[in-house]
Amino acid sequence: MQEKNTPFRRGIIHEFNKKWIEGCVRVLKDDGTIWISGTLHNHPSIGVVLKKLSLWIINDIIWFKPNAPPLIQKNRFVPSTELIWLASKSKRYYFNYEMAVKLSNGKQMRNLWEMPAERHKTSHPTEKPEKLLERIILIGSKEGDVILDPFMGSGTTGVVAKRLNRNFIGIEIDEKYYNIAKNRIESTPIENNLVKFLEKLTNKNALQLDFYSNTEKERCY
Ligand SMILES: C[S@@+](CC[C@H](N)C(=O)[O-])C[C@H]1O[C@@H](n2cnc3c(N)ncnc32)[C@H](O)[C@@H]1O
Repeated sequence: MQEKNTPFRRGIIHEFNKKWIEGCVRVLKDDGTIWISGTLHNHPSIGVVLKKLSLWIINDIIWFKPNAPPLIQKNRFVPSTELIWLASKSKRYYFNYEMAVKLSNGKQMRNLWEMPAERHKTSHPTEKPEKLLERIILIGSKEGDVILDPFMGSGTTGVVAKRLNRNFIGIEIDEKYYNIAKNRIESTPIENNLVKFLEKLTNKNALQLDFYSNTEKERCY
């Protein structure tokens, strides 16, 4: 996000990326994963930092927003994607493959995620859709895990983490957004039935999701 007096503006974005990614890696569990989304201008630096820190780059996920707004300028393509880096400390990382298949209509999930950008629920200009975070958190973590978002914004990661019964640590420099996030997270209830939640998320019933063939059948949390 490019704001006044941010590292972007001060031209020290690469040093800044190195510092915060190093900090995240320091607290990342050995089998944990790091998911980084951002703007095109920041991605080359992120890629270099991930390589320099010897992280294992698992995937580049392209989030395609079919409802991206048109451009006023007539000298470029309409930006309608965001890139999300998925990386880990080693090749032994947690990845809920079965969940990804359930969320992908019974097929292997591809790295192109078509998902509309949602109208903002808060006044934050770059609020992420909860659906995007639901996918990331369901596939990348287990119930009871700790999720860290060092650029919390309006708290979408925290809302979804709490809903899905994960612990959450959020960091936000702007007090206004911090308060929005805090209120949003506090008023989010914990989902106590994963099957029902997934039925709603995928528009399928438990049978179609193949829940009855595994231990998640009766699982409530
Ligand atoms: C792209 S937004 C995150 C949006 C969030 N995913 C959401 O759904 O609302 C990035 C956030 O990082 C915050 N930020 C920028 N620099 C920061 C810093 N050094 N420490 C903590 N937060 C920072 C900004 O204020 C902004 O709210």
